[in-house]
Amino acid sequence: MIAVIDFGSQYTQLIARRIREMNVYSEIISCRADFTGLARPDVEGIILSGGPGSVYEVDAGAYRPLFALDVPVLGICYGMQLAAQLYGGRVKRSGTREYGLAYLNHGAGPLFLKIPKRISVWMSHGDTVERLPRNARVIARTESTPVAAFRLKEFYGLQFHPEVRHTQYGRQMISNFVFGICHARRSWSMPRFVEEEIARIKTVVGSDKALCGISGGIDSTVAGTIAARALGRNLIGVFVDNGLLRKNEREEVRASLAPVMNLKVIDARARFLARLANVRDAERKRKIIGREFIRIFEREAARISNVRYLVQGTLYPDVIESGQGIGPADIIKSHHNVGGLPRRMKLKIIEPLRMLFKDEVRSIAGYLDLPASFVERKPFPGPGLAVRIVGTVNPTRLEMLRHADQILLEEAAMLKHYASIWQIFAVLLPLGSVGVMGDRRTYDFVCAIRAVESDDGMTADWVRLPHDFLNRVSRRIVNEVKGINRVVFDVTSKPPATIEWE
Ligand code: XMP
Repeated sequence: MIAVIDFGSQYTQLIARRIREMNVYSEIISCRADFTGLARPDVEGIILSGGPGSVYEVDAGAYRPLFALDVPVLGICYGMQLAAQLYGGRVKRSGTREYGLAYLNHGAGPLFLKIPKRISVWMSHGDTVERLPRNARVIARTESTPVAAFRLKEFYGLQFHPEVRHTQYGRQMISNFVFGICHARRSWSMPRFVEEEIARIKTVVGSDKALCGISGGIDSTVAGTIAARALGRNLIGVFVDNGLLRKNEREEVRASLAPVMNLKVIDARARFLARLANVRDAERKRKIIGREFIRIFEREAARISNVRYLVQGTLYPDVIESGQGIGPADIIKSHHNVGGLPRRMKLKIIEPLRMLFKDEVRSIAGYLDLPASFVERKPFPGPGLAVRIVGTVNPTRLEMLRHADQILLEEAAMLKHYASIWQIFAVLLPLGSVGVMGDRRTYDFVCAIRAVESDDGMTADWVRLPHDFLNRVSRRIVNEVKGINRVVFDVTSKPPATIEWE
């Protein structure tokens, strides 16, 4: 295992991913953690991430235990400066940041094996190392940064970021560190991970029962499937049809998952729609849906005896975003899975995916033989179509939106770049507009088409869909969906807009 100590860099996750892609397990550890736990035989190397702070603001001595573990250490940017300070060098405080590409010249050595002498690297730093610690050697420089990399025994420091793709041969540098310097073994793989998780869940749960809230998305499906492999019928997947699902969604989820797990499908459509009647405000809609979901889930849990565990599809970025995994990076949002079920229900939580990234979960879905349609599924919000109907939700509007959305998705599936689209969906606007159909005046609803590209849903750009595609979809929706006579295309990015309309 390579431990990545996080000092709050926006690239920390990238470092861990790069290493896992090399079939070596890597874990992110907060810079505020107690490092004594790292003195284990499976820890083969340490990487210190970059960070937004300045080493002047910390007591570098607090990190001395990391350097006493008898494994090689790679310090990136802030991590390098920290080591320089700790070993008696001097770091120069700078008011300006160097940001962007620089040309690096390096000497030979294990970190730069198989890398051309001159390459471009990505710099993003304020402070620089002005004086090296005793016995340290400069191993690379750029025109403006004389100490772009240094080595002191088994410590290697880089002022630039090898983990970002703008740095040429960055992966090779990380690989040189992981294999050439740490001699890490390639023992991390998805199949092995799954087998280990199945064994762990079996041991933990024993003959008790576990519930898993199934949303139809990939995370809860994969988590539930792993748990079902471990527990058989003692894992009960609960899927709630809240009446806000897409066309055929309930049947699709049932058909794909009933063979894989003990699945309970609950029809709560009437209840949800009754609670939502005449509610116009987006936040109120969301709250009502969240609360209702918890009530139904609690009721179901109470009906089954011996339930002691709740399986959730929490992912690594969720753990990190909610501030549990890392150091000083800002808390972006408090993650809530299926409406914050655990605290109220007093069930013990099992999160088989809490160490995984989304693309790793996708590859597990393939390994578990889940249908390809699941693996390729686009994200769908918990409050469902209710946040895609601006204003009040009722069965007529839901039916209209469902139909329009189905047409859009049918057509979208034929797009060459469908896989690279993050989300594509229809929105129903509570807006009348005049039209003419078959010589008659109409006064019907407007439907908006939204399609975005994104890496993580945090920022997004609208997709430049081909005009002939938009034309086909628009014609079909207006002709086939009763009640819609106009189609518009949303050309706004996030920020300033959000992906969903509500
Ligand atoms: P926004 O609209 O905030 O959406 O730009 C970002 C991503 O999150 C999804 N989304 C949700 N997912 N529960 C969820 O599980 C929710 O309440 C929720 N709201 C938005 C949205 O579809 C997009 O992928």
